[in-house]
Amino acid sequence: MADYAAQQATHSPRYAAVEADLESGVVARRGKTVMVAGEGCWMIDSEGNRYLDLTASQGVAMLGYGHPRLATAIADQARRLHACPGFFNNDSRARFLEALIGVTPAHLRHAFIANSGAEAIDGAIKFARLATGRTGIVAAKGSFHGRTIGAVSLTWNPKYRRPFEPLLPGVSHVKYNDRAALEAAISDKTAAVVLEVVQGEGGVHVGEADFLQEAQSLCRKRGALLVIDEIQTGFGRTGQWFGFQHFALQPDMIALAKGVGAGFPMGAIVYTDRVQEALYVGAHGSTFGGNPLACAAGLAAIQTYQNEHLIERAHRAGQHLRARLEEALAGNRVVREIRGPGLMIGIDLRTKVGPYLKRLMVEQRVLTLPAGSTVLRLLPPLIIDDDEIETGVAAIAAALAQ
Ligand SMILES: Cc1ncc(COP(=O)(O)O)c(C=O)c1O
Repeated sequence: MADYAAQQATHSPRYAAVEADLESGVVARRGKTVMVAGEGCWMIDSEGNRYLDLTASQGVAMLGYGHPRLATAIADQARRLHACPGFFNNDSRARFLEALIGVTPAHLRHAFIANSGAEAIDGAIKFARLATGRTGIVAAKGSFHGRTIGAVSLTWNPKYRRPFEPLLPGVSHVKYNDRAALEAAISDKTAAVVLEVVQGEGGVHVGEADFLQEAQSLCRKRGALLVIDEIQTGFGRTGQWFGFQHFALQPDMIALAKGVGAGFPMGAIVYTDRVQEALYVGAHGSTFGGNPLACAAGLAAIQTYQNEHLIERAHRAGQHLRARLEEALAGNRVVREIRGPGLMIGIDLRTKVGPYLKRLMVEQRVLTLPAGSTVLRLLPPLIIDDDEIETGVAAIAAALAQ
């Protein structure tokens, strides 16, 4: 890996310039660093610098980088059959579906395979319309569900929504954790209530059990579907397979992405018999959805979560990381609160988070994410070990001490 980085080092100014010139520019770049490789929880840039990645590339690389089982599964499948249309059965797709349905609760036993989180949300909106014959959607203030026109209609932040109006009609946003607001918003026109159990992008805000259970019971009473967006919280991130399991919920549909392929681009919707009964040939589709390479990655990811006991490990590592952060940041006047389950942790600051992200990357070589304007968000790979936790905690404490 270091050799590869060294080979690329002389090219790095050119790579950064090419991206600045030719890429859309809609995503803010963090300086001119060019990432070229990864090993476990570490990313390596073209100068050979190693960064402890406490973000897992936006919460996707659950197995870290270069995990042999994931890499081998993708390479073997690429040699055998790297594309296969949805109108043929495929061994890789069938094995992935069995594994996926094997780890979701028994009442969620059908799946549609998509390519990203936003696509999973768009599919869930369509399926909810078909299953209920209604069009209303209730989402939450502070939510993030993606950037396609359908998903951005459910996303709360006006910065993402406004420039693209008019959006999907019939969408309302209730205050998160406000039961009375739910009671007022869910009606006999509501097709679905779409919620995150922990709002990630919105600031790592944890849902209250009463609120989430009330959403479920109002959906049942009024004939709407409960759709849980597990795109960030799924596959061990919160210390359970899925975040809704902390709250004993029985959603009608869950939207998945990120951890489903451990970094390979894919998404999925998993849902009940009631939803399946409303579907028909041609109701939905995707050229790439269910691609054999993605399914090989997804199968390897699920098998590795199981074989390496990574869900339990994420629970323990999350408790340890949180306890160490609380110790190291005790008395720090910049820190307002530390919150979040498992390996999904938000450090809420009394000030803007931007300069700290930069300082952590440039001075400490530790990668972190923002969530909203004041929260430092940690979404490390599930394989993070105790030494890496210590390195991360020391770096965060040093950066926040300045
Ligand atoms: C909760 C949640 N929903 C949806 C999405 C959108 O997923 P994608 O970027 O794969 O479209 C994200 C992405 O960060 C997310 O965190």
